[in-house]
Amino acid sequence: MIYLDNAATTPLLPTARAAMERYLGDAYGNPSSLHRPGREARQAVEEARRFFAGWLGVSPRDLAFTSGGTESNNLAIYGAYLAQRSHRTHVVTTAVEHHAVLEAVDRLRLLGADVTVVPVDSDGRVDPDDVVRALRPDTALVSVMLVNNEVGTVEPVAEIARRVKDVDPGIIVHSDMVQALPVMRLSLGDLGVDLASFSAHKVHGPKGVGLLYVRSGTPFVALAAGGNQEHRLRAGTEPVAGIVGFHAAMAELAQHFDAHRAHLSALRDALWRAIESLDGVYRNSPADAVPSILNVGFRGIRNDILLMRLDLEGIAASAGAACSAGSLEPSHVIRAMGRDREARESIRLSFAWQNTMEEIGVAAGVLSKVVGSLRSRFTNS
Ligand SMILES: Cc1ncc(COP(=O)(O)O)c(C=O)c1O
Repeated sequence: MIYLDNAATTPLLPTARAAMERYLGDAYGNPSSLHRPGREARQAVEEARRFFAGWLGVSPRDLAFTSGGTESNNLAIYGAYLAQRSHRTHVVTTAVEHHAVLEAVDRLRLLGADVTVVPVDSDGRVDPDDVVRALRPDTALVSVMLVNNEVGTVEPVAEIARRVKDVDPGIIVHSDMVQALPVMRLSLGDLGVDLASFSAHKVHGPKGVGLLYVRSGTPFVALAAGGNQEHRLRAGTEPVAGIVGFHAAMAELAQHFDAHRAHLSALRDALWRAIESLDGVYRNSPADAVPSILNVGFRGIRNDILLMRLDLEGIAASAGAACSAGSLEPSHVIRAMGRDREARESIRLSFAWQNTMEEIGVAAGVLSKVVGSLRSRFTNS
């Protein structure tokens, strides 16, 4: 199997797995306990927190471990809204956010929120002018992702944060950075956001662990009550082994960060070069997208059939869009880019550390064969 669906999840790094073993076994203490096993668990959690604080350029006090990107996004959005709802009830987000943001924001309507969804251009990019134009005196929150998970577009988050704060420093700025963590060196101070979300399993860590950044002083209501853990930002006993695995995976990735990024660029470019002359092919990912994601389509070929055929040939890819009742929903991201027809044709090929150039060669050959055979059978022109 050639796995080209790393934006969905990445394989656990052996070093992460090895680091986790101890905390799945003998070191089972609760980090809140005062005895020695508890202190050992606490130490592991705090080492992880210090590591991420260093990597992201923030204070360890401003980081809380969560159960993943979805939870981090939900905590950020509800937490920021609830803290301000007595005087601010307007929320701004974009048309290309992950569902964990779009649906959380949508639910805020039940709490009386008014929501503005800002459009994107044909590259999937938000214009900061549009975000600024959407602001109102009662805007509570602006949520704009840093890297889009379907096409890899990098959003101008630093500029948006700066301009939003220029208009009204009281507006809270959140960014979903789940897909940025594997491929971008992030300085949250420079990005200027108040809240940011991360996930372990996109950086070769375990599933079910994430991170939430809450800049000190940000109005924020913690959603879960019942414990003082994680600086009271997220109650509940910490998933110690998962946190240790997240730390180990990201630490290894960080050590090879530039080489890793160059490797992904080489893979992405080689794959595109090998398929760019195929009949009817087009590329949805802009040229300056992150190197981990290549979104392409083949005119007249439905993506669900294409993905099934690729799977049969041993290539795991995805549409990057939700699957419901066994069929693919047309991608809301590709549609927001003004490509309605392409939304049913496009597939996402996404790369990570373990992929090799040899795999890319094989994948390109399979794509060419499958597209050729589908075209001869189902041409709808
Ligand atoms: C941009 C983005 N946000 C949030 C998530 C959700 O993260 P998790 O799977 O850790 O809940 C994902 C993962 O699919 C993602 O790509």
